[in-house]
Parts: sequence; structure tokens; C-alpha cells
Amino acid sequence: MTYYYNGFPQSEHDEKLNLINVDQLEEDAKRVIPEGAYYYIASGAENEWTWRNNTAAFNHYQIVPRALTDMEDPQLDTEFMGMKLKTPVMIAPIACHGITHKDAEVATQKGAAAAGALFSSSTYANKSVEDIAAAAPDAPRFFQLYLSKDWNFNKMVFDAVKKAGYKAIMLTVDALISGYREANLRTEFTYPVPLDFFNRYLGAKGEGQSVAQMYAASAQKIGPKDVARIKEESGLPVLIKGITCVEDAYKALGAGADGIYVTNHGGREIDGSPATIDVLPDIAKAVNHRVPIIFDSGVRRGSHVFKALALGADLVAIGRPYLYGLALGGAKGVESVIEQYNKELKIDMQLTGCKTIDDVKKAKIMHINYTADNLPSNTDPSRMKPYPVTSENQPQEDLDATSGASHH
Ligand SMILES: Cc1cc2nc3c(=O)[nH]c(=O)nc-3n(C[C@H](O)[C@H](O)[C@H](O)COP(=O)(O)O)c2cc1C
Repeated sequence: MTYYYNGFPQSEHDEKLNLINVDQLEEDAKRVIPEGAYYYIASGAENEWTWRNNTAAFNHYQIVPRALTDMEDPQLDTEFMGMKLKTPVMIAPIACHGITHKDAEVATQKGAAAAGALFSSSTYANKSVEDIAAAAPDAPRFFQLYLSKDWNFNKMVFDAVKKAGYKAIMLTVDALISGYREANLRTEFTYPVPLDFFNRYLGAKGEGQSVAQMYAASAQKIGPKDVARIKEESGLPVLIKGITCVEDAYKALGAGADGIYVTNHGGREIDGSPATIDVLPDIAKAVNHRVPIIFDSGVRRGSHVFKALALGADLVAIGRPYLYGLALGGAKGVESVIEQYNKELKIDMQLTGCKTIDDVKKAKIMHINYTADNLPSNTDPSRMKPYPVTSENQPQEDLDATSGASHH
């Protein structure tokens, strides 16, 4: 069940996962993902305080159970920017899915489509936007843009994504450079699988580049004028990904944003920045339904999805958990992960008398600022070792680098 790309092991699993919760995936995924790649995914910036608190801060909000609601069989389907979706859970854009699975973004798109969830593709995807679209032609999908310093590159990207039927661009503005991620330094991580847009444009392969090198190709100087230019040149709606304060929400709206994406990049950028759930309510109030809101970072439970919707989000994105699901079960694994969130969310909907996602958006939430748990860092060296050695997660050094592939 393992494929080797130039000696780098990629999972070939394609099976449903028997999940109790999505947290277990973080440990289980080590069985099939090589160590450096695993810690590239799992890590946050510096001491990972923000990474931990993204999840812990959901405890600041409490779902008030509702009685005598005379309701059964809650429904998860929802509409977002004119698209009909079967769940408010969406797939956040993540670079280089090929570090976990041979079919990379193609498998993730298939899994998302099977669950009726919105998929979004990173600029740093391994697979081409055309191949991803062909994997589920009728499914809706967004494209995440790391704006390049080179507008010829940007134009090539706009043309390709528009032609491939992507419905909107999400411009990432919170990761102009990489956060200080110590795990990547310890493992000396470089991208082992080529990234399609870099292949196409540079003729270069993208593989072997460090995270810092990849960011160097993208623009650091991004302002409101760029939003207008992206809208104009692409002809697509533009959402701004990386808003964590009211001032920036106003700025994004002023620049013509068609949507606001509240995220701190899963705690991978500024350590010590607030948990996103703590900034969502004020941003939602400021935006006041003028444009839709996507939310992510630290969402690990159906109850987290519920709270985010009730506090102002229209869609709730998940990051690392689906990538672990991809590693362990391919497209079906991604589907299983979304189903797990759906299952937990439905329980909360029944117990609060929410028949629809619109009802969840009006649900009663209390706010008591419990102190967040002070857990140890996930990538603390003492927790990084020993890393399990399995037949599927070991690089193969004796393979011919030019021919690449072999099955075991
Ligand atoms: C390994 C990894 C790679 C990521 N790559 C991108 C990317 O290419 N573009 C982007 O906008 N966000 C990227 N993100 C951030 C995610 O879109 C999302 O905001 C974050 O993962 C949500 O937090 P969670 O993982 O705690 O759910 C990445 C996150 C991870 C974990």
C-alpha cells in the first residue's frame, strides 16, 4: 500500500476509517507519513501556544442545550455563495497533499465531493487544477492564491483556475512569509514531491525546496490595490483568507472582498496571536452579513463547528485532520473525516433543537472565559521521538532517482 516517489513513501490506502473522533488521526497518521513530512503538517509556530489554544479556546463558549423543541432529524445541507452543499464543513487549502498520499489533491477532491463538501485547492498543490477538477466535475471548488511577485505567473494561474471551473479565489494574506516552525528546522524538511504550478511556469520541479524558499517566490507586499487587481484580472470573486481583527475585516470589505476567511493559518504563523474562535464574534458583528464568512483553525469536533456557526461563520473549514485521513484512507479516508464531524454536529443540533444550519446560526451560546488547558507542545523534541518505524513510512534510498516509482 505504499508508492515511492524518488524514494519518498506515499500512501496508497483507499478505505473508510473507523473513527471514534478525529483527534486519534494525529497519532495514527504517523504509521504512514514519514517523520519530516508529518511534522511539517503537525507543527505550529514557536512554542505552539496559538496552535494549542485554537482548539482549547472553544471552551470559552458553551452550547446551551434546548428542551421541548419538538424536533427530530436535523439536516446539514446549506447554501454558500450560490452553491448547494451537503455540509457546512469544508476542506481548507493545504499545500502538497502528495506528502501523504500518492493521489494527493485528486483523492482529497473525490472524498470531499462524496461528502458533498466544498473543496479548496492550494497554489502549492501537487496535482494540476485540471486533474483536480476532472476528479469530480460537478463538485464545487475554490482556489487559494499565494500571490506571486510575478504577475505573469498570477495571470497564468487565474486563466487556468477559471478555465477549470473554480468558483472563487481565496487570497491568503496571513502567511506572507513562513512562521518560525522549529520542527521543520529539526527535520530539515523540503518538499519531496513537485508542485504543479511551479513545474508549469518555471520548468523547475518545486521538489527539494524548503518552506522558506517557497514563500520567497510569493509576494510579501500585498495591499488593498492587489485585491482589486486580482478581481479584475481573474474575473472571479475574491475572499480574503487570514483576517483576525475587525479593522482588517473593514479593510478587506473596503478593498472589495467578496468574503472574509477568519483564520490564523492553524497556529503556523504568529505564535501568541489569538485563537480564531475568540476573534470571530466581533468580526461577524462588523461584517454584519454583507459578505459570507469562512472560519478555521483548531476545529476538531462537531461541537466546534456548531460554535463557529453560532458565532457568525457560514462555513467551517478543517485542515490537518483531513490530511491525516487522506494518508490513512485516501479519498474514502477524507470522506470518513468529514462524516465524523457531521455525526457529532448532528447530535448537537438534535440536543439544541436546531433542524437546519440556519437554526444553528441563531443558536444560544454562552461565554464564560474558562482558562485554556496548558498542554505540552506537540512537536517538543521529547514528544517527537521515538517515531514509529513501519514498512510504509520509510524512505527507500536504493531506488533509481530518474525512474522514481515502484510498488511494495
Ligand atoms: C500542512 C499545512 C499546509 C498548509 N498550506 C496552506 C496553503 O498552501 N495555503 C493556505 O492558505 N493555507 C494553508 N494552510 C492553512 C490551512 O488552510 C488552514 O488555515 C489550517 O490548517 C486550519 O487549521 P487546522 O489545521 O487546525 O484545522 C496549511 C496548513 C497546514 C497544516
